[in-house]
Formats: sequence, structure tokens, C-alpha cells
Amino acid sequence: MRILFPLLCSVAAASTAWIAPGAIWYDTDGKKIDAHGGGIVKMGSNFYWSGHSAENQSPMMYLSTDLLNWKNFGSQDPSVTGMWRPKIAKPNGDYWKFWAASLSGPWNGGTDIAPASTNTYGSQNSLELTITGSKQTTYIYMGDAWDSKGGPGSNYVWLPMAVDANAKTVTLQYHSMWRVDINTGEVSTATSSKRYEAEHADISGRAVHADSEVTFYNITGTGRRQWLTFHYTVSSPEAGDAYIFINDSPTAINMSDLNSRAGYHNAVPVYLVLRPGDVNTVRFGASGSHGFNAIIDAIELHDL
Ligand SMILES: *[C@@H]1O[C@H](CO)[C@@H](O)[C@H](O)[C@H]1NC(C)=O
Ligand SMILES: *[C@@H]1O[C@H](CO)[C@@H](O)[C@H](O)[C@H]1NC(C)=O
Repeated sequence: MRILFPLLCSVAAASTAWIAPGAIWYDTDGKKIDAHGGGIVKMGSNFYWSGHSAENQSPMMYLSTDLLNWKNFGSQDPSVTGMWRPKIAKPNGDYWKFWAASLSGPWNGGTDIAPASTNTYGSQNSLELTITGSKQTTYIYMGDAWDSKGGPGSNYVWLPMAVDANAKTVTLQYHSMWRVDINTGEVSTATSSKRYEAEHADISGRAVHADSEVTFYNITGTGRRQWLTFHYTVSSPEAGDAYIFINDSPTAINMSDLNSRAGYHNAVPVYLVLRPGDVNTVRFGASGSHGFNAIIDAIELHDL
């Protein structure tokens, strides 16, 4: 159908304004970024993100000027990749010694960088990046949010780190959506442009039990990829998943396919395409093993 073509083009051309730990991160061609165990080096005003494709283990490279929008440079010749492998600077000595014996932790280190129960927010560290801005220096933790198979479905967890040079502690600062201004070094977090409360939505079934659904109406779409945050909590992320139906689509979308840390934090950002206008319906539900439940508070839109 010819009419679909411009829509697909505009989706591909969308640029993102946020880093959202655990959410699918698209490159500037609209494809999922596939560069795991990554490293980043800066040359001039360009950042180069090199990592390995989880699909076929080939070295991949992406380029960005803002740490948000990455252009795929494609598979790199392995001998070339060596050149891009970053030398990790350690400005304050050895303060980020932390490691894990397995993907699921537990994490060890000089100090706890995140609450131990979070297993560094469900991620495996790959690199720290320092942004020396005109107003502040920001340290960024970069990790892989591996799925259980370590496969191409895995996403990334990037978070700013608070460094206390005197106490020699490093603490990850969890934000569901954030960015760093690469010129000033300042970190900002996403604000809401619209919020749909669950109590205003049509609730079918028993809202706090598995297999029940909540419907949100008249959600504003842009026709391009846009950020939506689903505010919900689950009884246990391992015991089930939330899903959504968008408009008249008969197919449920598994929230864990949009954000590999869905259910782990009570704000779950996803990057989705909705129809333009106040015309979208999103049905939210949950299913899982016996006793699993999800409680949804609201859907929040950003950057309309
Ligand atoms: C959705 O918007 C339409 C048109 O503005 C309005 O008539 C309708 O009542 C709205 N539905 C809900 C559930 O708010
Ligand atoms: C949803 O996705 C997760 C992660 O891929 C998977 O473990 C789970 O089984 C899926 N749930 C359903 C209902 O398909």
C-alpha cells in the first residue's frame, strides 16, 4: 500500500531526545542498535560506539554527536575495531572497580554503586564515559541489559553516576529517561507533556489481578515514534508480563519486548508509534503465573 511509505520514512527519520535504560534504542535508520559490550571514544565532536552484534558477534560501530541519535556505520573489519577500542580513562584512580561472576550478579566492588537488590539495575557494566562539560563533569555508566539468552533482544542501561571523590564512592543515579548536554555536561530528565490516569480509564475486570485490562482512550499520537511512560508495578517481574493492545490491532505487544527492564521499575518508558491526533486507544493488561499481578497508575506522554 503506497500510503504506508511516507509513514515508514518519517518513523525512520525520528530522532530521540532521551536515554531510556532498558528500552529499545533505535539508530537513525530506525533499526535496533546492536553493539553490546560496547565502548565509546570521542574524536572531535563525534562519539563512536563500538560493540559486538549479539546476532552474529561481528564488531559494529555507530556514530553520534549527542549520545542520543546514533548512525550505523555497519559491521567493522575486526582488525579495524581494535583501533576503536577505547582506553578507559580513570580520572580518580580505581574507584570503579566492580565486577560480577555471572550476568545476574551479585556485584562486587569497593563500594556498592547501586542498591544490591537491583543487580546494578539488571545490567552488566561495559564502560564508563566521562563528559567534561563547561558547567560540570558527568560520569556515565554504560551496561548491557542482557535478556536471559544474551541475544539480540538485549538492550542497554546507561545511567549517570554520582562520584564522591572524598568518600571514594560511586552511586548510579537511576532515571527512567534522561540525557546529558554534551557541551555543558548537565543531566536533565524527561518531563511530562500529558498524563492519562488509570482511574479515568475504563477498567474491565479486576484491575489489580492477572488477566485483567485497563483501557486508555484518546491518547495523543504524533505519527512518529514517541516516548510513553507506563507507570505500573508488578508483584514480581519474573512471574509475568504486562502487555498492551494499540488501537484495533489484534496482536498484543509484550511490554518486555519494548523494554527489557519492564516491571523492574515503576516507570517503564517505551518508544512507540501512535496515530496522529487524540485518537489512540491503549489497552493494558497483565498475565503471568498464579498470584502475579500488575497495578497501573497512568500513562504519561513526553515531548509532544
Ligand atoms: C474521546 O474524544 C472524543 C472526541 O473529542 C470524545 O467525544 C470522547 O468522549 C472522548 N472519550 C473519552 C473516553 O474521554
Ligand atoms: C514477554 O517477553 C519476555 C521477554 O522476552 C518473555 O520472557 C515472556 O515470556 C514474554 N511473555 C509472553 C506472555 O509472551
